[in-house]
Amino acid sequence: MTAPVTQRTPRYMPPLDAWNDAALPPSTTLGGGALLASLVPYAILAPSSHNTQPWRFTLVGDELLLHADRTRALRVADPQHRELTISCGAALGTLRIAARAAGRTLDVARLPDDRDPDLLARIAVGDRVEVLPRDVALFDAIPRRHTTRTRYVRAAIAPLVLGDLVERAREDGATLEFLDEEAPREAFATLVGEGDRLQAGDAEFRRELAEWLHPNRTSHRDGMPGYAFGLGSVASTIGPWVMRAVDWGDAQAARDRDYALGAPAVAILAAPSDAPVDWLRTGEALARVTLAATAHGLRHAYLNQPMQLPTLRSRATALLRTGGVPQLGLRFGVGTEVLPTPRRPVGEVLRVVAAPPMRAAGAPS
Ligand SMILES: Cc1cc2nc3c(=O)[nH]c(=O)nc-3n(C[C@H](O)[C@H](O)[C@H](O)COP(=O)(O)O)c2cc1C
Repeated sequence: MTAPVTQRTPRYMPPLDAWNDAALPPSTTLGGGALLASLVPYAILAPSSHNTQPWRFTLVGDELLLHADRTRALRVADPQHRELTISCGAALGTLRIAARAAGRTLDVARLPDDRDPDLLARIAVGDRVEVLPRDVALFDAIPRRHTTRTRYVRAAIAPLVLGDLVERAREDGATLEFLDEEAPREAFATLVGEGDRLQAGDAEFRRELAEWLHPNRTSHRDGMPGYAFGLGSVASTIGPWVMRAVDWGDAQAARDRDYALGAPAVAILAAPSDAPVDWLRTGEALARVTLAATAHGLRHAYLNQPMQLPTLRSRATALLRTGGVPQLGLRFGVGTEVLPTPRRPVGEVLRVVAAPPMRAAGAPS
């Protein structure tokens, strides 16, 4: 059995207060706009590509609007804004999970306005529902879910647990397909390695990634401190420079191949098609699946390279037995506990605007 890599606690840590704000359960007595506003601190703990946190929330009376913040898009790594939309979907999924723990469903209209593609969802409080133990388990996992980029213990995961993750993805209209057999796993590992080499060979990709990498001692409330990649304080300081200046493709490909072949479980999260609404739903599924995995005591990390490069994506599609369009690659296993990454404060992403006054019946318009 391979021991997981031990994560060192950095001497300096970025501001992590957002995680403390989400330590308490949501109120079961609030309703309407007050409840929706109280759920946003949980939603912002969702994963996002490069921790860009590309979301904006606006509360208008009893309605919460979720907008894409395209100023935070990854121009090189995500030109279509596919991963940006998935990230916003993860925030939406986390919001829905927090609402369930408050005994409420949410009524969500996804991409409700053809003329405004940035408006990803209109959200209102729905029915009162009984809070089930599984709702509490998912909610409790919100502040404990972290992308864990270490090697995992080589111990099989119970089929019941894997089956549960498959079921969770299905709840949000996505498919989680595990690559159990040797040939597809090997083919996928090869694609990941090819992706690493292509991305690291692209100076623009490296430059963009370096912009979102920060030293451990950072005041940034977005992006990725070096410790998220297992770097100590000194290495994290030169990390962005190395990332930008050096073609690290071969080293990363070797590491990712090891992760892809050695992880107890590797899966592709797929959507029925490849429209923005599918990306949003994929993000909701991602939130549910990764929180369920966390609740089961599993860690997870991403192997997305084959989906990020159009030249590789068709080959990833061919690996799926159940069809659909591959969106994300994930590995699961037991591993070391890692630190959270920073988040922007709620005040920066939630705007409260006065609801338009109700017009009296018969009043002139
Ligand atoms: C759509 C999406 C794509 C991602 N792609 C990668 C990836 O290719 N490699 C990686 O290491 N992490 C990836 N991540 C993880 C993010 O970097 C991570 O969520 C972010 O840094 C915040 O950290 P946390 O998940 O620990 O809260 C991705 C996350 C999302 C939502």
